[in-house]
Amino acid sequence: MSPAQIALLPGDGIGPEVTAAARRVLEQIGATSGLELELEEALIGGAATDAAGDSLPAETLELCRRCDAVFLGAVGGPRWANLEGAQSPEQGLLRLRRELGLFANLRPVPVFPALIPAAPIKPELLEGVDILVVRELTGGIYFGPRQEADAEGQATDTMVYSASEVERIAHVAFRAAAGRRARVTSVDKANVLATSRLWRATVDKVALEYQDIELQHLYVDACAMQILRSPAEFDVILTGNLFGDILSDEASMLAGSLGVLPSASMAEGTFGMFEPVHGSAPDLAGQGVANPLGAILSAAMLLRHSLDLEAEALAVEAAVAATLDEGLTTPDLATSGSGGATTSELTDAIIARID
Ligand code: IPM
Ligand code: MG
Repeated sequence: MSPAQIALLPGDGIGPEVTAAARRVLEQIGATSGLELELEEALIGGAATDAAGDSLPAETLELCRRCDAVFLGAVGGPRWANLEGAQSPEQGLLRLRRELGLFANLRPVPVFPALIPAAPIKPELLEGVDILVVRELTGGIYFGPRQEADAEGQATDTMVYSASEVERIAHVAFRAAAGRRARVTSVDKANVLATSRLWRATVDKVALEYQDIELQHLYVDACAMQILRSPAEFDVILTGNLFGDILSDEASMLAGSLGVLPSASMAEGTFGMFEPVHGSAPDLAGQGVANPLGAILSAAMLLRHSLDLEAEALAVEAAVAATLDEGLTTPDLATSGSGGATTSELTDAIIARID
């Protein structure tokens, strides 16, 4: 078997620190499973703007296209906040998603029992919570025609969805639900938006192919409320690009910290990009205290979704849970009497528990 090729894009802020943690976990899996991995790093985000004047250099894109999967740390920071176009770190990430056809963003919200005290939600509401947000990632208002403010002080963004874009992401959600609790909640704003009415009708049509899956529609405002009122009711949340961005940050609070959330952004087939949901946290960068769990759990998703290594993915996830059960965490998750571990101490502890 030829080696699995993985592009590592550390990016900005704490991105390089958490990418190093993910790399060590992947190398450990390589060593214990006999799987040959080729890991190659490239520039993205502000780091690429500084070095090459472009937040997504052509070499980076070419490397990603050659690989089986991409791991990304984080992009952005105050130094690049006012740059536009090719120099903007966020635009580099959006171009990468679009160029690689990564339309299906999977954002699981894992609720580890050890982290329930760290969540700003009543513990009794968190029992049994296990949500997967399936967010459409290459369409909607993120990519529709845009007009910056003109002389009259008017600016425009446009939300565009086609039935085929809705269909393919709906299939992803229904297939995911089939391996879980068989519930899909499709989230839109169909009482106002035309794209949402198309969304709803298209999801209803796709649902006919999945008779064993229960489908519910919710308006996005009601969903935002329900995620806090009874989060355990949700299984798969299927939604568009903008609503998914907002709801996944909201749902992350159920997990105790944005720092523990992983994500996968999949193209058709097994190619995907894997990144922690958290940002570049410039205030924490360089201190060695960034939470590596989102990155390590993203590496587990890479093993599962791009390399078909389910047992290895489960081993990483179990090692994370076992480490948390022992009370080891980084400062962002500190509760009384715990929380002093550094990024590399927490990573060491997890690696020691992977068997
Ligand atoms: C995310 C981020 C990005 C998004 C930003 C950095 C462009 O918030 O991945 O959720 O809005 O998609
Ligand atoms: Mg976001």
